[in-house]
Amino acid sequence: MNAIIEAIRTRRAQKSFDPSYTISDEELTSILDTTRYAPTAFNLQNYRFLVVRDAEQRRKIKEVAWNQPQIEECAALIIICADTQAWQKDPARYWKDTPEQVQELYTGMIRQYYEGKPQVQRDEAFRSSGIAAYALMMAAAAHGLQTCPMDGFDFGSVAEIIRLPKDYELVMFVALGKGLEAPKGRGGFLPLEEIVAHDTF
Ligand SMILES: Cc1cc2nc3c(=O)[nH]c(=O)nc-3n(C[C@H](O)[C@H](O)[C@H](O)COP(=O)(O)O)c2cc1C
Repeated sequence: MNAIIEAIRTRRAQKSFDPSYTISDEELTSILDTTRYAPTAFNLQNYRFLVVRDAEQRRKIKEVAWNQPQIEECAALIIICADTQAWQKDPARYWKDTPEQVQELYTGMIRQYYEGKPQVQRDEAFRSSGIAAYALMMAAAAHGLQTCPMDGFDFGSVAEIIRLPKDYELVMFVALGKGLEAPKGRGGFLPLEEIVAHDTF
């Protein structure tokens, strides 16, 4: 099977991690470096990753996340946040490798697209961050690691614990590490006909 298809089809939400496995800074950096190749609208790169490895910090987070064991057992808990205001933070830098006219063009388009539209600002940042979460899961898989996407936590409490900056929104966690037990059987898929339509709904 093609390696990409296989990675997509074999990924599972890992519920138990080997707590004795530690991930090196180098490996984690490599995974996050790959993750940022995920696409973002207008190349805003508005995802932000908080890497939580500190034991005390994870204990606190677990308490407000239904005591889910993955939080403490994984090698690194990645908290994915979206900077909803990235669009107005010197946007020319998102196009810094292009000629100045292109930078100006994008700066104008970005302002026009986002200014005065809080819902668009939030939706777009969440879209891009969600894609990044999946890229992170795939990059981890390429390193032979397992992941668990998570949003089973109290968003307000986690925001306090991690001192979430004011422009940021919490999107989700991705716990990553060495899986212990293989996840149980899948929940089951809906028939393709139920989720795919053609040309119009
Ligand atoms: C946005 C999101 C939030 C999730 N939150 C949790 C969670 O808090 N705890 C958990 O154990 N699994 C969580 N999951 C994992 C799902 O339960 C799992 O992906 C789903 O049942 C399909 O199983 P699979 O990923 O093994 O194919 C979450 C998945 C997503 C995409």
